[in-house]
Amino acid sequence: MPAVPFRHRHLLGIEGLSAAEISEILDIAEQYVELNRRGGAKSALLRGRTMVNLFFESSTRTRTSFELAGKRLGADVINMSSEGSSVKKGETLLDTAITLNAMHVDVLVVRHPESGAVKLLSDKVNSVVMNGGDGQHEHPTQALLDALTIRRRKGRLQGLIVTICGDVLHSRVARSNIHLLNTMGARVRVVAPPTLLPGAIERMGVEAHTDMRKGLADADIVMMLRLQNERMQGRYVPSTREYFRFFGLDYEKLDAAKPDALIMHPGPMNRGVEIDSEVADDFGRSVIQEQVEMGVAVRMACLEILTRALRSNAPSVEVAN
Ligand code: CP
Repeated sequence: MPAVPFRHRHLLGIEGLSAAEISEILDIAEQYVELNRRGGAKSALLRGRTMVNLFFESSTRTRTSFELAGKRLGADVINMSSEGSSVKKGETLLDTAITLNAMHVDVLVVRHPESGAVKLLSDKVNSVVMNGGDGQHEHPTQALLDALTIRRRKGRLQGLIVTICGDVLHSRVARSNIHLLNTMGARVRVVAPPTLLPGAIERMGVEAHTDMRKGLADADIVMMLRLQNERMQGRYVPSTREYFRFFGLDYEKLDAAKPDALIMHPGPMNRGVEIDSEVADDFGRSVIQEQVEMGVAVRMACLEILTRALRSNAPSVEVAN
């Protein structure tokens, strides 16, 4: 029996998860990191189960790592995007979900440009639903993989100063990370131009800054965000050149952080806009590729936990080499 009963049927966001639930996901993900590194090891945990990745927005990391996670656990995985589906013929999100539901899908992973769309869909289907990112709302598995990366490097989350820099206004990654890091006892700061800071962001329990050097002072973790041009109507920054000058991470600004501060970015990166290329590729400090690796393990852990009810009598991890 798991030490902490996971109380949620779906994974729609980090908000509402307890510290114990987050820790359980991270602990299980640790085991999958080792399993993945051994290579060739495959679990039969989800043998006979079907998982559909339903993506209404583009993705490289999230979709591929969910696909790998499902396949490494033995599930049959189908990828669907709005481009190649009947959504193009005018079918609604809910009709698409109800159609997949009729085929007895076990797990639906959904990415959608509208905040709240994944929750809406989860109310209409019998399958487990996992949020692969909904609008500006949440991207829970991104925050979990970020937490796993930090915990493995720093040994803890509690008490760390984590500075999230960039387009906080449009970022579901920022929102999920703020919820998770606050729940786990980290100190969270956000840094952005005033146009890209949500009003009353302090109510989320963060310190807000508009000066990079002040926001980065003594930070343990520097988390950079992309300018989400696809969610912007109108101009939020005068030019990308000017944005880089004041808010792009380069070695000069990074000097304000702790000497062993980790550099993180959820990807995709816009080099020369929010981050200098050399800083992004600084293998002593940048853990951007490690974040991608942790993504597979975290998604395997989430799949294991959320499908417990489906597998009520099955052992928690079966390994078939
Ligand atoms: N970090 C992230 O969600 O990347 P993708 O858009 O490539 O999935």
